[in-house]
Amino acid sequence: MNAVDITGLKYNYADGTEALNDINLKIERNKKTAILGSNGSGKTTLIYHLNGIFLPQQGQVTVMGFPLLKKNISKIRQQVGLLFDNPDNQLFSTTVFNDIAFGPRNLKLGEEEVLSRTFKAIQMVNIEGLKDKPPYNLSLGQKKKVAIAGLLAMEPEMLVCDEPFSGLDPYSTCQMVDILNDLSIKGATLILSTHDVNLAYTWADQVIIMKEGEILAAGEVELLTDRELMIQGYLEVPMLADIFEGTGFSPRSPEEAAGIIRSCMPVGKNKN
Ligand SMILES: Nc1ncnc2c1ncn2[C@@H]1O[C@H](COP(=O)(O)OP(=O)(O)OP(=O)(O)O)[C@@H](O)[C@H]1O
Ligand SMILES: [Mg+2]
Repeated sequence: MNAVDITGLKYNYADGTEALNDINLKIERNKKTAILGSNGSGKTTLIYHLNGIFLPQQGQVTVMGFPLLKKNISKIRQQVGLLFDNPDNQLFSTTVFNDIAFGPRNLKLGEEEVLSRTFKAIQMVNIEGLKDKPPYNLSLGQKKKVAIAGLLAMEPEMLVCDEPFSGLDPYSTCQMVDILNDLSIKGATLILSTHDVNLAYTWADQVIIMKEGEILAAGEVELLTDRELMIQGYLEVPMLADIFEGTGFSPRSPEEAAGIIRSCMPVGKNKN
């Protein structure tokens, strides 16, 4: 069973903007999928259809086996966590701790389990120092971390993140990538939107490229090395693919690239 099956999805906003037009898409379970596309291409609108913020106006969406209908939304939300682009949309408690505990409490878990999940999530995201603060006083990056901790505490089978790295410093971005990879190793399905083609190339198994409310291409991450396609999607070829083009090597991470470069260096003859 796929994590997501979409056929013929259309979505128009109230002012008549055609945000999604005939989307047909399958997203596999237990994979890491990156959605790319220029501003206004429809990424957020599509993501809102993955846990029932929006219901299909036309077409069908199935998430984790459940048709996206009003009656299935709570079942879908128990399995699918959504990180909003703007964390202010999901933080509302008086303290960071209570915000993170809100989800598990809402699942009617015992208080011991709620506390254990909350502390674990706080530790994973490394925000122990923020736990007693009101979320609205935090910086953008800190709010994002609190929002992701709240989702982690729900232990979702599928996590959908709208631009999770925007506003994060480089160290926190690495930390976020590690958290997502850890969830992936544990079997979660991960879907994120990003403008960072380099990060998507290193991180993703699958990519979806959107343009003007349509899917321009979807498939293996190697799609990002197709220069014509990238130009069509107003994107850029990832730097590593650009540097190694025509060499027969296709490293997907700086570490892999460094290993290739070292292996190609002549070894000094007089080296002891
Ligand atoms: N509330 C709204 N009312 C009317 N039009 C909207 C609304 N929200 C989004 N749109 C329009 O829908 C289209 C798709 O927007 P969407 O936010 O899904 O794009 P996006 O790919 O997420 O862009 P970005 O990279 O800037 O986040 C755009 O043309 C946008 O202007
Ligand atoms: Mg968006």
